Amino acid sequence: MQGYTVKTLTQFIIERQADFPYATGEFTRLLYHVGVAAKLVNKKVNKAGLVDILGEAGNINIQGEEQKKLDLLANWQFVQALKNSRECCGVASEEDQEIITWDDDLSRDGNYIFCMDPLDGSSNIDVNVSIGTIFSVYRRLSPRGTKPTMEDFLQPGNRQVAAGYVIYGSSTMLVYSTGRGVYGFTLDPSIGEFCLSHLNITTPADGKIYSINEGNYSHFPEGVKKYIDYCKGDDKATGRPYSARYIGSLVSDFHRNLLKGGIFLYPPTASAPKGKLRLIYECNPIAFLAEQAGGMASDGTRRILDIQPESLHQRVPLYVGSKNMVEKLIEFL
Ligand code: AHG
Ligand code: MN
Ligand code: MN
Repeated sequence: MQGYTVKTLTQFIIERQADFPYATGEFTRLLYHVGVAAKLVNKKVNKAGLVDILGEAGNINIQGEEQKKLDLLANWQFVQALKNSRECCGVASEEDQEIITWDDDLSRDGNYIFCMDPLDGSSNIDVNVSIGTIFSVYRRLSPRGTKPTMEDFLQPGNRQVAAGYVIYGSSTMLVYSTGRGVYGFTLDPSIGEFCLSHLNITTPADGKIYSINEGNYSHFPEGVKKYIDYCKGDDKATGRPYSARYIGSLVSDFHRNLLKGGIFLYPPTASAPKGKLRLIYECNPIAFLAEQAGGMASDGTRRILDIQPESLHQRVPLYVGSKNMVEKLIEFL
């Protein structure tokens, strides 16, 4: 008889629980709920095109609203999942100015802090291009049973206990790390389960892809301009010129470079002097995954994970990817 052997995300996290000497199952439950929210958001994302078609037939103006709604819907879905998990005491989200907390005892007793970009690359929703969700998990510093404080959320990235992303692409994947390697799960829609597909992902030390919004070239720092010129230079020995690849969804650009090798750059520009990407729920989780896969992440002078956050929605420049490429860039800076 033909067999179909899979390891689902749920099976995997339960097995892995034993790896953590003091694991109580709380974190396992949290991750389980994240997986469920990801599946629910995936269902909506897949239908986005369909909603547009229906919207157009009835009311042309509704298109823009539907797309904006998807941002909020993803946010709502993850917040609900986190509340239901009863392991999370507070959430920071790109979509909410303030931190989200709940008043019930169970949530206040939760040990974990969750930071997220519920829908990353949302300008790509209406053109059927891959988008994602990025998340980061910390242990709280404040005592259990109380409301979490700002200090709980402003921990440096090196204190993350887990980070990951969901990519809603040609297939939907959930990629995460708890600090012991990076694992990827592909959603099998026929059984509605994330199945282990990428075991212990490592990123090549060198790559041939550079990813940057080069339209902003004239506004980049001199070092970045010189590095881009270097990427375009002709040198067989180092495999240059490199290929330029830029989707405009951090999750998708990072995911491709993680698997193939490459560098992603979001430097400071005239309109965004501190860069565009947010430290807490974009740069830190991506940096954590990059390092876990053997790559590197810097803001040009500091390791991203060592930056002490000052505010919830703080922005930093981001240079992330294959180690040798990021090191080379830093030479230019
Ligand atoms: P979001 O959709 O969550 O606001 O994030 C968009 C981000 C990120 O995904 C991407 O890397 C970057 O914006 C693209 O910015 P540019 O359009 O300036 O290139
Ligand atoms: Mn984003
Ligand atoms: Mn977003």
